[in-house]
Amino acid sequence: MITSYNQLFDNNKKWVEQTTQANPDFFNDLANGQSPKFLWIGCSDSRVPANEITGTKPGDIFVHRNIANMVIHTDMSMLSVLDYSVNVLGVKHIIVCGHYGCGGVLTAMGHKQVGLIDNWLRHIKDVYRLHQDELNAIDDPHKRADRLVELNVQEQVRDLAKTTIVQNAWQNGQALQVHGIVYDIKNGILQDLGVTIDDTTYVEDVYRFETTQLA
Ligand code: CO
Repeated sequence: MITSYNQLFDNNKKWVEQTTQANPDFFNDLANGQSPKFLWIGCSDSRVPANEITGTKPGDIFVHRNIANMVIHTDMSMLSVLDYSVNVLGVKHIIVCGHYGCGGVLTAMGHKQVGLIDNWLRHIKDVYRLHQDELNAIDDPHKRADRLVELNVQEQVRDLAKTTIVQNAWQNGQALQVHGIVYDIKNGILQDLGVTIDDTTYVEDVYRFETTQLA
């Protein structure tokens, strides 16, 4: 584990040398622009780095991370990333990635005050309430937490589909899939949760917007 600040710059120098050696055009190419096919919405947890666990490189994935990989519809940062990636970069896939052992989810299941973050984590308590019958029926607290991690991802996928940004993209015929996946920090395995959507089938009527006619 790296603990020294200066070591970051030593490592960077080595990385630039190795990368340039392997591909002399690497940085020139990236400097000309980006056209990632993926938007990644993941947890800020230091153990879940989008590029590293997917074997991808700079330029491949547009990334937004926050505590517990949440899609909060008043979060200007998330909405700006979503709008830019869908409407300017034209990503084909949005991936919500949760992870087992997520501190945010575990805290949301408890009753302790942590501070400001209690308000952020309340959105996860809302997910728990939506699925409380299923969750309360799971006796093992670890299994219950794992299931909440999965259900939280599923709800964030559906929350993306409630945004005008995603609905307009679909209505305008843009090929855009929204996926939910989960990462296991114990073994490094990524798993698709089978909750992919590419239309408003799972969006309850009250959240559906009329088509906005392009002038
Ligand atoms: Co987490």
